[in-house]
Amino acid sequence: MRFKIALFLLVFLSSCKNDTILDDDADYEAILNLPDTPFNYNDIDFPDTFTDYVFTFDNTPQDNPITNSGATLGRVLFYDVNLSKNNTISCASCHLQERGFADTGAKSIGFEGGHTFRNSIGFANAGFYKPERYFWDQRAATLEEQVLMPIEDEVEMGMTLTELTQKLSELDYYKPLFKNAFGDESITNERISKAMAQFVRSIYSFNTKYDRGIEQTGSIFEDFPNFTPQENLGKDIFNGKLTPGAIATCVTCHLPNHEPLHPELPLPDNLNQVIFSGGEPDNIGLDDTINVPDNGWGAFLGVETLYGHFKTPSLRNIELTAPYMHDGRFATLEEVVEHYSTGVKAHPYLSAHMKDSQGNPRHLNLTEEEKAALVAFLKTLTDYELINDEKYSNPFVE
Ligand code: HEC
Ligand code: HEC
Repeated sequence: MRFKIALFLLVFLSSCKNDTILDDDADYEAILNLPDTPFNYNDIDFPDTFTDYVFTFDNTPQDNPITNSGATLGRVLFYDVNLSKNNTISCASCHLQERGFADTGAKSIGFEGGHTFRNSIGFANAGFYKPERYFWDQRAATLEEQVLMPIEDEVEMGMTLTELTQKLSELDYYKPLFKNAFGDESITNERISKAMAQFVRSIYSFNTKYDRGIEQTGSIFEDFPNFTPQENLGKDIFNGKLTPGAIATCVTCHLPNHEPLHPELPLPDNLNQVIFSGGEPDNIGLDDTINVPDNGWGAFLGVETLYGHFKTPSLRNIELTAPYMHDGRFATLEEVVEHYSTGVKAHPYLSAHMKDSQGNPRHLNLTEEEKAALVAFLKTLTDYELINDEKYSNPFVE
């Protein structure tokens, strides 16, 4: 309501000024709370654990580097309910900063109250995800492509791209934002997509308890001095130290590298121990049949042997993004861990990494102590600085 009044005032004030360009911040500060100097989104002091190899994953296109004005515009778009057909929801309705940019339901609620097909995915370091790896079924090739899809989705935001540019052109506060970001006021879908992709890409995470540990040892396979014994035990389960001979454990799928990381192999130099997503899609045996509503990547590609394969999502901030899996079937991290411990099912297309040497579903059969330790380790991936950082927060004056 207050937003509408502010908007009315703005339109009123600007019409008094014979439609002059709003290049004075004061003209829209009733609506938007933005700093005079934009926040820093592009000059980031990454820790050394973000190695040259990690930067080979950087998916920033040459024609869309992050700029501070571009990400600022992206931030406003991300939080603007005007991007939905009936002005009820924004990207942030389903991607909450305090939830690691996921939400709390198994399915999200769209602009008309409908439920999305899948569970909302949180994101951090999306700028390092591999190409063609966006969404649970990996149907989007780039972030630039991805960010426009929810706007056009019938359940999520319900707009056409023509309506979108038309609508944003009528909102005066966008004029200076587009001008700062792209040099002139013109509003195009390409610019909308670029700015939102810049903002999403700028959501870097490297301030977790895990990051402080890996910085000290340089190896996920060594005990971290800043961890409790329980967290170090959980880390050993995660990285396969407690399951000698196993071809794959959590680390193999959730930390993508050229060669699978394994405690029995020498640690290559210059590897990825920080990006917990962006690897290959897998079938982790959630079901034992293909007769389910959602067959993920295989259904998208039309390849039956890939049915039941889904994106391996980021584990950063995983503590905050419950419920879990593509359909939100697990309410807690304890349930997720129980799945890997005893629950993996014999899906006809179960990933090889989920099978034992006989080809049966591999169960880790963890003790209660080990399960609690694995959950404690997963909670070291929570980035409290990120979820409290003003530069990612809602800029609209409430
Ligand atoms: C109604 C809820 C809803 C809204 C609104 C919404 N999203 Fe999403 N978002 C989801 C769901 C659900 C998924 C997973 C969908 C799937 O995989 O099929 C998702 C997936 C994503 C992903 C993929 C992350 C990954 O790891 O692959 C990104 C990025 C994203 N959304 C950004 C946005 C942006 C930007 C907007 C605004 C333009 C937006 N979303 C609006 C619910 C929503
Ligand atoms: C074979 C590769 C593979 C292995 C091994 C593996 N995961 Fe996963 N993990 C995935 C995939 C793929 C998903 C998404 C599955 C889905 O939703 O259908 C997933 C989902 C998850 C999720 C939920 C993510 C979310 O956002 O909902 C958590 C937590 C998780 N895994 C933790 C672990 C832990 C802990 C281990 C070791 C015990 C492990 N994973 C082993 C591939 C793997």
